[in-house]
Amino acid sequence: GTAIPFYGAHQSGIVTPSQEHLHFASFDLLTNDRAAVRSLLMIWSNAAATMMSGHPLGEDTTPPLAPPADTGEALGHGAENLTITIGFGPTLFIKDGKDRYGITNQRPAALIDIPPMMGDALQPQRSNGDLCVQACADNPQVAFHAVRNLARLARGLAVMRWSQLGFNRTASTSKGQETPRNLMGFKDGTNNLKSEDASLMDQHIWVGANDQPTWMRGGSYVVTRRIRMHLESWDREHLQGQEEVFGRHKISGAAFGKKEEFDAVDLNAKDGKGKLLIDTNAHVRLAIGDGTIKILRRGYSYTDGMDSITGELDAGLFFIAYQRDPRKQFVPLQTQLARNDLLNEYITHTSSAIFACPPGAAQGSFVGETLF
Ligand code: HEM
Repeated sequence: GTAIPFYGAHQSGIVTPSQEHLHFASFDLLTNDRAAVRSLLMIWSNAAATMMSGHPLGEDTTPPLAPPADTGEALGHGAENLTITIGFGPTLFIKDGKDRYGITNQRPAALIDIPPMMGDALQPQRSNGDLCVQACADNPQVAFHAVRNLARLARGLAVMRWSQLGFNRTASTSKGQETPRNLMGFKDGTNNLKSEDASLMDQHIWVGANDQPTWMRGGSYVVTRRIRMHLESWDREHLQGQEEVFGRHKISGAAFGKKEEFDAVDLNAKDGKGKLLIDTNAHVRLAIGDGTIKILRRGYSYTDGMDSITGELDAGLFFIAYQRDPRKQFVPLQTQLARNDLLNEYITHTSSAIFACPPGAAQGSFVGETLF
């Protein structure tokens, strides 16, 4: 497989064309020592750069009576487009009222605590966290290996709080990619921002050169939501009902009133009787809103097997969205969706997290160096 560089102006894994598999992990720090956090971030950056290049950690240096530096399961796989993206949660800056690292005054105003949304059923044990690692790769074992080895390197300093595996990217983020389907069978990512649109990325995704705080310039904010789909009731809905939920046709992906997937959505299109073709509460209408809010969706389908209480599939969308300012993007979008989206009958948000992903690092430096 090919290799994506770890070092650069921006972190990888944001505008990188979505890979097929995800392993996302959130960590809580155990230390109150700022220098220890700094050294952990250095260790993580070095290891991330090595793993992304397709090489094992600590190549050929293990004496036979020491545990191997690399756990080994990715040997022979190559880089597989692995990207590792690191982020900082609100609790890194202040936890239980404590400023553990003397950085509370560096907390970005945009790194909000996401307000409760209508219909939320969030599980605290799989929400939030001090640090996050998003590992994406075209091979699931390579993504797993990355998180496993970063967790191992953090032992004693940080523990995993929750983690989520994802498969089959549910968003295309590049014009070169065919739009994948989510578990409801709909094409997902048609009207996503595409990484080729550099000026839209600067406008909507990257923290700008005049934005505060300075340490976040060139970074981005990520919001994750584990959204369970109630597939059993969805599967009993008739086709027309399913399509009305989105305002798009299932097979072609075309918006109502249009022929092709990428034909522009016309929110004002009406039928012969003057009735709007796209329902006033259709997902696509509410997600477009007044057309000014854009996010970079980079989610994955997930399943954690069966819900042992109901016997239903525990499956859905692990929603991941990057943006310049969640106060102006995720929050107003989700507030509107949570209130009115026709989709709400078939979904439940079960986890939520937000992280500030700092800019990329230059070779010899590390991600987070602008803050630590
Ligand atoms: C569009 C599915 C949750 C924001 C779409 C489309 C589908 C879809 C099928 C149309 C195709 C496309 O343009 O990608 C879903 C499902 C969800 C979900 C199944 C939950 C399980 C969310 C959430 C947000 C969101 C939580 C944001 C808070 C958007 C946006 C668009 C979109 C911004 C593009 C609208 C446009 O510009 O045409 N979604 N979505 N979606 N969705 Fe979602």
